[in-house]
Amino acid sequence: VAGPNLDREKKVAAEAAADLVQDGMRVGLGTGSTVAHLLPALAARGLTDLRCVATSVATEDHARELGVAVEDFDKLDRLDIAIDGADQIAPDRWLVKGGGGAHTREKVAAAAADRFVVIVSSDKLVERIGPPVPLELLRFGLRATLRRLDELGPVAPRPDAVSPDGNVIVDYRGPVGDPAALAAALAAEPGVVSHGLFPPEMVSEILVGNPDGSVRRVAAG
Ligand code: 5RP
Repeated sequence: VAGPNLDREKKVAAEAAADLVQDGMRVGLGTGSTVAHLLPALAARGLTDLRCVATSVATEDHARELGVAVEDFDKLDRLDIAIDGADQIAPDRWLVKGGGGAHTREKVAAAAADRFVVIVSSDKLVERIGPPVPLELLRFGLRATLRRLDELGPVAPRPDAVSPDGNVIVDYRGPVGDPAALAAALAAEPGVVSHGLFPPEMVSEILVGNPDGSVRRVAAG
């Protein structure tokens, strides 16, 4: 659980991202405690012509409670902007996501968006990407998938962690090394629905909340 300072950093980053949203936009809403700050900030904008999709039931429920309408993502073929948190951000802009187990949906939303904006507290900036890397696994053939993944490195179960689409969430805890190589190796496993490594070219902008309450904007991509 983030302390008060990190929570404030998340809040200011989320508020800066909410200011990027304009009426008429199609908006992807991520998942997690940083996005939990985005939703009230977005609601407070009072925009009347937004079309939003949510990457988790938690985000969908929270948005609706605040009066932000959410629709199914099968109705839209692209988004203007997607806004989401992250677990790790390296200097070369590789991200790790999936701490909340929603990274497959989050990656689909990010890929569909013209602009993918990442909002984080300053503790998410790391020198290099390391474990854990969340994985969403198909239940079909789960034991066989886990056995094959074990050849890459140890994989730890997350008790009762289920993705928004009913798949199994585990954490890869082996070496990361070159994120692109690990991403390719994980993606090559048929039972891996998706991994939590997001490449730099997917990211448009990173908004980092600073301890003094200011927001640092880092262009990416
Ligand atoms: C959920 C995610 C989150 O964006 C990530 O875990 C960051 O969470 P938080 O904003 O709570 O720190 O990827 O799947």
